[in-house]
Amino acid sequence: MCGIVGYTGPRPVLPLLIGGLRKLEYRGYDSAGVALQTGVELVVAKAVGRLSCLEERVAGIPGDGFLAGMGHTRWATHGRPSDINAHPHGDCRGRFAVAHNGIIENYRSLRERLRGSGHHFSSETDTEVIPHLIEEAYRGDLASAVRSVAGLLRGSFALVAMAASEPGLLVAVRKDSPLIVGLGDGENFLASDIPAILEYTKSCYILDDGELVVADQRCVEVQDLTGRVRHKPVFQVPWDVAVAERGGYPHFMLKEIHEQPQAVRETLRDRIKEGELALDEFGLDGDAARALRRLHLVGCGTAYHACLVGKYLIEKLARLAVEVDLASEFRYRDPMVETGSLLVAVSQSGETADTLAALREGKRQGARTVAISNVMGSSITREAGSVFYTRAGLEQAVASTKAYVTQLVALMLLAVDLGAKRGTVPEAERAELIEAIQKLPELAEEVLKLAPAIDNLARQVAQWEDAFFIGRGLDYAVALEGQLKLKEISYIHAEAYAAGELKHGTLALIVERIPVIALATQPPVLDKMISNITEVRARGGRIIAVCSNEEELAPYADDLILLPACHPLLMPVLAVMPLQLLAYYAAVHLGCDVDKPRNLAKSVTVE
Ligand code: G6P
Repeated sequence: MCGIVGYTGPRPVLPLLIGGLRKLEYRGYDSAGVALQTGVELVVAKAVGRLSCLEERVAGIPGDGFLAGMGHTRWATHGRPSDINAHPHGDCRGRFAVAHNGIIENYRSLRERLRGSGHHFSSETDTEVIPHLIEEAYRGDLASAVRSVAGLLRGSFALVAMAASEPGLLVAVRKDSPLIVGLGDGENFLASDIPAILEYTKSCYILDDGELVVADQRCVEVQDLTGRVRHKPVFQVPWDVAVAERGGYPHFMLKEIHEQPQAVRETLRDRIKEGELALDEFGLDGDAARALRRLHLVGCGTAYHACLVGKYLIEKLARLAVEVDLASEFRYRDPMVETGSLLVAVSQSGETADTLAALREGKRQGARTVAISNVMGSSITREAGSVFYTRAGLEQAVASTKAYVTQLVALMLLAVDLGAKRGTVPEAERAELIEAIQKLPELAEEVLKLAPAIDNLARQVAQWEDAFFIGRGLDYAVALEGQLKLKEISYIHAEAYAAGELKHGTLALIVERIPVIALATQPPVLDKMISNITEVRARGGRIIAVCSNEEELAPYADDLILLPACHPLLMPVLAVMPLQLLAYYAAVHLGCDVDKPRNLAKSVTVE
């Protein structure tokens, strides 16, 4: 959420900033703006809405002739989306410009104090206090002013500042919100994420909390907040521009759905060698695995749904008690984390503020910690004791797909590994599971061949106002993810229930033709599931069954989505794919902005 791009160098600044912001659109935003430095003054333009609105607004401004600039896409937290609330923000006299990601928690008291000393505010944002504070602290050196202002701010921030009187200079600082510095030859960049700068450089610094950057076109200096210089390793981005583009697909989401077999293949690479698991990344040897008494899984959104699958698998295979928490609830419920237990934080981006906070809470209470993340060098990976990287590649659609299935694979590997080390999975079953895991990429390819049939089905789905998803056991966890996909991108109201729970309330909503998507991939509960399906049919509900057993389910289903046979414990990887496709095509038929659903952000860096 929110995106920052900064540039200092000889290229035409305005188109570069807009191009960079376009690459960050996937993060989610509702308004955008730029500030450009002429060498004498700052020119600021902002517009609510998509980047095209900003482009219209800046149409009269020449692209070049500027020494430096910053661009920002805003996802509203304090103050509604509007031209005025969009960033960059300025001080009373337009001498400074600031773009900010995060939340300044103490902005009210700061604003009161600044107002008291005569400052005028034009927006409703928390951010606007920053340029006013800089105005107050400025003694001819922007870096020192930003340094002292950073000391006054509570909350999270990645911010970039420019002063009209210091041509070509950008100063940035980071705390709990991602920021990178792109290193060029005679030019330098700042950005919230790598895609914004990838066209120009693959060399960057990934800033740590409490680091301040002073950059002009010739040089970049990273300092701590006392002004001491820090020597940072240069991170070389391992992928190129082509990876960050849509590659012929109409949307990133569809591209990413189709990349799932490869993402699973990559995530398995080198982690199974000659039929044996090689999972040092979890940092658990046999003794550590046997000593564990409890495991905590935390995540948000789709990652939380992956955790629910993880709980089921780990409890079943490793006979280890697992607690799953929404990361946003974890630290506020005064959780009991025994010293020596294991906390696994699952996060695609590695930047989700709530998941980071849950990880810190686990550490504070003495847990060993592991991150399962898709982004190298992200905050969560840097703070966790060990890291298992999913290798889904860059995921840009807000609705997570390939990152989710690789999280499932990571948790499946962890469950089998723990089970083997704790002696709770017999040798033959372990070998069978490992063999089955290796077949997942091929099976996933088979499932994706259903896309045209699901597109057809989605034409009906697009007419629905409500949908229910039901399942038992692992299928219930997948049902939750299926309903999230449908509502987040098509805006169709959807809810998921444990199938056995329907009759305790929700059955009251099942009337003639109400659609119910029933997941029935788990043989041990198939009969129970069929009973629940018949309860729905008896009230006139319309069943779309997702299963791998045509004979058993066909008599009860209005439509059938048939999956290939697979080990039941691995079924979530396959069962979720038709649900992703159903949501995708329904959203397309409804004309929704699939990759950038309203109000949502890819990476949620505020609480
Ligand atoms: C946002 C995204 C979701 C994602 C969740 C957690 O809500 O829109 O797709 O599942 O954050 O993100 P993370 O990066 O921690 O997995």
